[in-house]
Amino acid sequence: MNKEALTNKPDSFYITTPIYYVNAEPHIGHTYTTVLADTLARFWRLYGKDVFFLTGTDEHGDKIMQVVKNKNADVKSYVDRVSGIFSSTFKELGFTYNRFIRTTDADHEQTVTDILQKVYDSGDIYFGEYGGYYCVGCERFYTEKEMVDGKCPDHQKPLEYISEKNYFFKMSRYQDWLIKYIKENPSFIEPERHRNKVLSFLKEPLSDLCISRPKSRLPWGISLPFDENYVTYVWFDALINYLTGIGYPDSPDFKKYWETAHHLTAKDILIPHAIYWPTMLKAIGLQPYKTLKVHGYWQVDETKMSKSLGNAVRPLDMKTKYGFEQFRYFLLREMSFGLDSSFSEELLVERINSDLANDLGNLVSRILGMSEKYLDGVVKKLDGYEGKLKDIAKSIAVELPKFMNNFRFRKAILKIWELVTAANSFVESSAPWTLNKEGKTQELAGVLYSLLESLRLLAVFLTPFMPETAEKINKKLGVSLKDRQTYTDLIEWGQLPDGIKINKGEGLFPRIEFSKNA
Ligand code: MSP
Repeated sequence: MNKEALTNKPDSFYITTPIYYVNAEPHIGHTYTTVLADTLARFWRLYGKDVFFLTGTDEHGDKIMQVVKNKNADVKSYVDRVSGIFSSTFKELGFTYNRFIRTTDADHEQTVTDILQKVYDSGDIYFGEYGGYYCVGCERFYTEKEMVDGKCPDHQKPLEYISEKNYFFKMSRYQDWLIKYIKENPSFIEPERHRNKVLSFLKEPLSDLCISRPKSRLPWGISLPFDENYVTYVWFDALINYLTGIGYPDSPDFKKYWETAHHLTAKDILIPHAIYWPTMLKAIGLQPYKTLKVHGYWQVDETKMSKSLGNAVRPLDMKTKYGFEQFRYFLLREMSFGLDSSFSEELLVERINSDLANDLGNLVSRILGMSEKYLDGVVKKLDGYEGKLKDIAKSIAVELPKFMNNFRFRKAILKIWELVTAANSFVESSAPWTLNKEGKTQELAGVLYSLLESLRLLAVFLTPFMPETAEKINKKLGVSLKDRQTYTDLIEWGQLPDGIKINKGEGLFPRIEFSKNA
């Protein structure tokens, strides 16, 4: 298949998650965005692209300082500890990031300092006085228009009026440029509903961005290079991680990856990413990132997750209880990109039992079981018994890169499941047990070859979504993904070699009995 026909150029792919605040431990929300990034990274690597996947933690600012004050702890040891929980959790979940960045990393602090100086020297930063309504939860000022009954629309907490002398970034200067850029580049912010939100925000005059905090009030942050009495505003610091992560300004990685930068976030941090960040990049003299992809919010049992409700869903708990592949599958399968979704363990168990234990798990064990029973587990390569399976596999192979290009994870999974469903029907319609009984050995071997080959292809397609499951299927089939083989090599029908021995082994997904109190 022609590789160029499947996706756009260029051949590098840079994917980022938000860097997470260390005021909470990893929960379903952080896990979701990172699963998406990991899935994309794995897919494009398999495809043969040169991928850089960045995630990490955001460690400065009022929000962190408040937690530490409440806990009476030393700030640095606190952020080290919680950042360590994020990185060890992410390792344990098998995320394949290239770098875990921390805003307290020395190279990041240096990059922020250099950029501040550069923007200051170019005249885009000035000193002034400002009063406004500040939400510590969001770490940003709200306009009166944005507030709801004097409260932050997101955190529902009364906003504090703060007035102080600070440094400002001349963000307003870039308003017209930004509106034009967003309008001329429809894929810059997606899905459309979020793009429209940004455009409607930009209908009002944009104020300049307050980018400092006096050390007398907040000592925890990166000092301004041109005024030691101030630290950098946490968003001006945090957004720059996307540049530090790939070695801005001089590293070859920066030159290679920046032009293909895709930022994944949820809708909560749309404004900083869609407005502050492109205007900052413009002021630095860099081209904007390629796309910002904005997903919806996970609610838990129909309500917002919050510390006070104590309903946070923790990924390591899910791993212990259900298996991380199962949880990962659920996240990818359940949420339509851009819309909110509801999580409940009951739903998770339903999906595990129906899609994984029943559809996929049974399929794998039935096909392998019959191959062992009827053919002593030895693969006999025979063409001409594919039914619809070959065509379905081919259409998945063609569609998958398109879905991944458009961040359509759910659609990609539903598409892959077409082969699971078709293979299950093929087992029924071809009835290998009857062919065996009737002594139709040639047809039996042909039918089983087509089914085994479908399993091989399912493992290829599932690799980015459920990497461990894909590996287990490959192992059962006695094949391995060789380093040099990419998607385009692997998707051609008929590569399962003649004469190899398969091994049914254990089932992939045990069925789960749901119990509310478990
Ligand atoms: N530190 C900032 C981001 C700076 S990026 C330069 C921040 N951190 S955060 O810890 O609050 O993480 C917010 C992000 O976590 C969301 O944008 C999303 O990626 C993820 N999620 C947190 N809760 C979520 C849900 N309930 N549902 C889905 N994802 C959410 O904002």
